[in-house]
Amino acid sequence: LYPVTLVTNKHLLPVFNKPMIFYPISLAMLLDIQDFVLVVNGKDLPSFKKILGDGEAFGINISYVIQEAPLGLAHGLMCAEEVIEKEPVCLILGDNIFFGHGLPQLLKACRKEVEQEGGAYIFAYHVPDPERYGIVEFDKHGRALRLEEKPKKPFSRWAVVGLYFYDRSVWQKLRQIKPSSRGEYEITSVNQLYLKEKRLKVKPLGRGFTWFDAGTPESFLEASEFVAVYERRSGQMLACLEEIAYKNGWISRKDLMIRADQLKGSKYGEYLKSFMNNS
Ligand code: G1P
Repeated sequence: LYPVTLVTNKHLLPVFNKPMIFYPISLAMLLDIQDFVLVVNGKDLPSFKKILGDGEAFGINISYVIQEAPLGLAHGLMCAEEVIEKEPVCLILGDNIFFGHGLPQLLKACRKEVEQEGGAYIFAYHVPDPERYGIVEFDKHGRALRLEEKPKKPFSRWAVVGLYFYDRSVWQKLRQIKPSSRGEYEITSVNQLYLKEKRLKVKPLGRGFTWFDAGTPESFLEASEFVAVYERRSGQMLACLEEIAYKNGWISRKDLMIRADQLKGSKYGEYLKSFMNNS
């Protein structure tokens, strides 16, 4: 998204009416995840802190770690290791937007499976432009056969989306991988290790779901249009973090009222007020 990204972090740009990062955070909150580590670059750390703080307004805990150089997603996860202390982890990318009825329930079940049985769970989405993504090939029984990061000649149209559940062995796997030809520690390399061990589950997200990787001007616009259409049609906001926190019982009515007051004069603030009055 250059050149605007020279001055603003991509993940803080508004997708329709709220920062991009709200969308993946909202999904994690819908999965009952309350402890977050945000991996950010040093330059943009103050901006993230201004918008999200320590998460208190949303009933969550946010710690920040700095990734000194853009060395890949797996490297980003390595940076978070000391805070997460070798626990199972859900990794979610800051520019990925998910939507679909029943998605939180489906993902919660996968999360539970990884926590109870170990291994990893990842998800695939059918796309017209597989060369932009990590992709996965399925056999006729729906089992994952191979995974590759942005192959020049895609062997499937199933993109691996930016949401991953890993058991504790991920921390040791991160030490095994080598940088790819583009010089990055790829999350696909980690997934390939799980696949080799036959401990990788890949669930296709079918037609009832929508997924955007808002990393290009086109997909950024599409995501904004999608959110705008949905919100106008339904009168409900997507990724309103305070609303989710309140429904999860993580913030009180009073907290919500204070927040609505702080944001008075904005559509977001008005929404919080109307939601509060109707609930
Ligand atoms: C990353 C991953 C890729 C995945 C994509 C999903 O790519 O490397 O495997 O399919 O996210 O958004 P990036 O967008 O960082 O190039």
